[in-house]
Amino acid sequence: MITIQDPKELQAVCRAWRAQGLSVALVPTMGYFHAGHLALMDRARPLADRLVVSLFVNPTQFGPGEDLDSYPRDPERDAALAESRGADVLFSPPPGAMYAPDHGTWIEVPDLAKGLCGASRPGHFRGVCTVVAKLFHLAGPDVAVFGEKDWQQLAIIRRMVRDLDFPVRIEAQPIVREADGLALSSRNVRLDEAERAQAPQIRQGLLMLQELASGGERSAARLQAALHEHFDAHLPLGEVDYIAIVDPVTLAPLSEVRKKALAAVAVQMKNARLIDNFLLEV
Ligand code: PAF
Repeated sequence: MITIQDPKELQAVCRAWRAQGLSVALVPTMGYFHAGHLALMDRARPLADRLVVSLFVNPTQFGPGEDLDSYPRDPERDAALAESRGADVLFSPPPGAMYAPDHGTWIEVPDLAKGLCGASRPGHFRGVCTVVAKLFHLAGPDVAVFGEKDWQQLAIIRRMVRDLDFPVRIEAQPIVREADGLALSSRNVRLDEAERAQAPQIRQGLLMLQELASGGERSAARLQAALHEHFDAHLPLGEVDYIAIVDPVTLAPLSEVRKKALAAVAVQMKNARLIDNFLLEV
């Protein structure tokens, strides 16, 4: 594995691969790898001849007062892990290499970004889309893998790829969880002991919704109310940011669960915002 910091060098390496007829897979990350990131790499590895893992804590997707400076980082461990998963290139540019001081071009998908996490993190998905588009231009991947934990991000990137004709296939990787059901996240390290003990209730609550839906409950309002009650009772250390039942593709709020519906939640703990989702099927 080679480590590249210069965007133009990444572009040249990937261009040379493509000239040799080699395909490229990309796994974009912000580092501090856990088993969820490794699953993305394991998924991507057999999909192409060459695997690029990017590690870039993208400043433009953090709002004022968010945790850009304290975002967990461990670049040496990350490099060893990426290599162990068969990455050919680890792309870890310094922020100044990705954004010119007068950077002024942005990509937005406002329709899909206005609700859920986008409502409480204005500008977040604009930063995500812009950096992902830049990574696509630099690596020119045939395929890129994103996790389903950030379902809204995945839906937005799919829409961006469709709308702007990026020649890349997007693959979705299911959520990786702790044994007790908590979705893996780099921010989980910030939970204190009591919060960590309650956090699996997010998953428990989502499973309860599936049971209610399987038992015939179709009303999104009643399902949301049931989840609020569950969190009030079992997750008192968390403050609910949203509980939403939406169309899995358009992210439009649903009033009734018919066929497939996405239940998505965000809960603010003291030092970590936790998100999770469940594809309800009836
Ligand atoms: O999901 C993430 O880690 C980030 O949002 C991404 C896709 C790497 C863009 O910075």
